[in-house]
Amino acid sequence: MSRIATIPGDGIGVEVTREAVAVLRAVAEIDGMPLEIEEFPYGADHFLRTGETLPQEGFDRLRNFDAILVGALGDPRVPDNRHAADILLGLRFRLDLYVNERPVRLLDERLCPLKGRRPEDVNFVIFRENTEGLYAGVGGFFKKGTADEMAVQQDINTRKGVERILRHAFEQAKARGLTRVLMSDKSNALTYGHDLWQRAFRETAREYPGIDASHMYVDALAMQLVKDPSPYEVIVTCNMFGDILSDLAAQIQGGLGIAASANLHPGRIGLFEPVHGSAPKHAGQNIANPVGAILSAALMLRELGRKEEARRVEAAVAGCVRDGRTTRDLGGSLTTTEAGAEIRRRLGEV
Ligand code: NAD
Ligand code: IPM
Ligand code: MN
Repeated sequence: MSRIATIPGDGIGVEVTREAVAVLRAVAEIDGMPLEIEEFPYGADHFLRTGETLPQEGFDRLRNFDAILVGALGDPRVPDNRHAADILLGLRFRLDLYVNERPVRLLDERLCPLKGRRPEDVNFVIFRENTEGLYAGVGGFFKKGTADEMAVQQDINTRKGVERILRHAFEQAKARGLTRVLMSDKSNALTYGHDLWQRAFRETAREYPGIDASHMYVDALAMQLVKDPSPYEVIVTCNMFGDILSDLAAQIQGGLGIAASANLHPGRIGLFEPVHGSAPKHAGQNIANPVGAILSAALMLRELGRKEEARRVEAAVAGCVRDGRTTRDLGGSLTTTEAGAEIRRRLGEV
């Protein structure tokens, strides 16, 4: 039995989570595995109505589930994004989910905007540090709103925080039979924080002699991922660079609509969400691609030890992509609900 909490959130998050939940229920039925799903209302509407972002009582309940599935958070009616910071970043930080795993896999060559690239050329995983860096929220204003104002946003890099994400990347490479781990930073300019990354990386790499550990500055890596993504297997990087690289990487596998992610602390509850946001301009039109959310649900099933169901969901998605049974962003003509239904229809056949 798995107990799953969902936070559909805002905009298209609501539409794609509905499809992901329906897929979860359908696949659980096929494989006869019990599943309990409870929805939580947190998001912009709830915040604007009640003034609550993520109340303590909600947090206490959420942390007792086996996993959390999030849609997206972000709404133009909350310009400072306060609710998203409390709910999404709040859960990542308070649950200490230090790994943000973002797999990048081209399912069909038609989806790649790079000339001549085939599925075997685009197949890697980004491990983004998820609990510190520029996201730590350390900083403040001085003389705000005056001509002399100053804003400070500190980049927090702790030895423990850096080392644990690096180690996770090496451990995962080993577990998956991969041989290359690339660490990306900006140590030529960030001579304190990223010097720590350099030293921690060299020391950690020594413990994994079977793995080819290399380094690239993040600007060069962004260029190389577009020029030739084929050499990469595991990329490990800081919070901010991981955010940016994962949108770039999403596009070379077909777009934000299909990119999935897992926020993890091995051995603890995980939070799963598509890489994309709430895409307000597409909200409520039944056109958003539900695949990013559905593949995030598959990552969740795998993490919960429900490997056969995860495989089934991934295979059904791959089949839909291959046959062009997709939403418009991937060149198909289906609506969000039709794309979800098509994936569900195939679950029993794969
Ligand atoms: P976004 O990811 O919401 O959308 C950018 C563009 O990508 C969209 O306009 C659309 O063209 C495309 N896109 C994204 N998801 C898609 C899908 N499922 N199907 C089809 N096309 C899709 O990014 P944004 O516009 O920069 O941000 C909108 C809001 O979402 C902001 O408030 C932002 O802070 C928030 N956001 C939240 C998350 C999250 O909750 N994890 C992630 C990113 C952005
Ligand atoms: C993501 C998003 C978030 C992030 C935003 C919404 C704070 O862009 O999950 O990639 O920057 O981590
Ligand atoms: Mn992002």
